[in-house]
Amino acid sequence: MSATVVLKIGGSVAGEADATVRTVASLHDSGHPVVVVHGGGPQIGQWSERLGLATRFVRGLRVTDEPTRDIAIAVLAGLANKTLVARLLADGVPAVGLSGVDGGMLRAEREAPELGLVGRVTLVDSALIEELVDAGRVPVIAPAALGPGGEILNVNGDSAAGAIAAGIGARLLAFLTDVPGIQGKDGAVLADLDRERAAALVDDGTIAGGMLPKVEACLLAVASGCAAAIVGALEIDAVERVLSGERAGTLFAAEVAA
Ligand SMILES: Nc1ncnc2c1ncn2[C@@H]1O[C@H](COP(=O)(O)OP(=O)(O)OP(=O)(O)O)[C@@H](O)[C@H]1O
Ligand SMILES: [Mg+2]
Repeated sequence: MSATVVLKIGGSVAGEADATVRTVASLHDSGHPVVVVHGGGPQIGQWSERLGLATRFVRGLRVTDEPTRDIAIAVLAGLANKTLVARLLADGVPAVGLSGVDGGMLRAEREAPELGLVGRVTLVDSALIEELVDAGRVPVIAPAALGPGGEILNVNGDSAAGAIAAGIGARLLAFLTDVPGIQGKDGAVLADLDRERAAALVDDGTIAGGMLPKVEACLLAVASGCAAAIVGALEIDAVERVLSGERAGTLFAAEVAA
């Protein structure tokens, strides 16, 4: 297991850049190797609307035809990625922006025919990430992957983060999002979850929408010996607290020793 922390920063919290940037900066400053994966759902939605394309989701995943894929790549690997990298650099974080396509990092198969150009990651080549981390840099990764025919596939940011955390044998996968954790039936945040209880909450619809790919990613990560947490982006010390064994957000413990 490496000491690396994989942080997924939601597009839903792009407006809270100060808080998310401070979280990354404080982890980096205290010596934790950090890999950032970001989303950009709301930004893709805005640009799709501007360009007159309809948006549709199935099981929390964006239905992606070719024009939508092109916008997703342009917005995620372009505007969203560079905006985040620029903010991190301004805060002294040695951020390097790239996408899952770069260096052949992420390979994927088609998730489901009805979703179009959406990929499910099948292979992570962690060489480029490890080179950057070893050089003291902070990779900032836009979700995208190479499909079976070398085509670029849109990948959900949560799924990409889960695959990367498992692929590099990270210590912790943490989601910084717009809710303080996973809420149970009564709306209260659940301090911890395991595979069985999570499945029950998915089955009864308590966990839905954008939380579904996060839970799936957490389950993938914990099966590889990585811990996983979902925390509110505004709680700047939440990830540090999880790393020091305190409670914050919703925690999934690693299922096996890494
Ligand atoms: N049980 C639950 N507890 C908390 N949030 C839930 C739950 N079920 C569904 N959600 C939804 O999941 C959302 C978070 O996922 P969402 O995809 O919107 O954000 P993100 O992944 O941070 O951003 P992006 O997809 O742009 O990267 C919450 O705002 C909430 O509406
Ligand atoms: Mg999301």
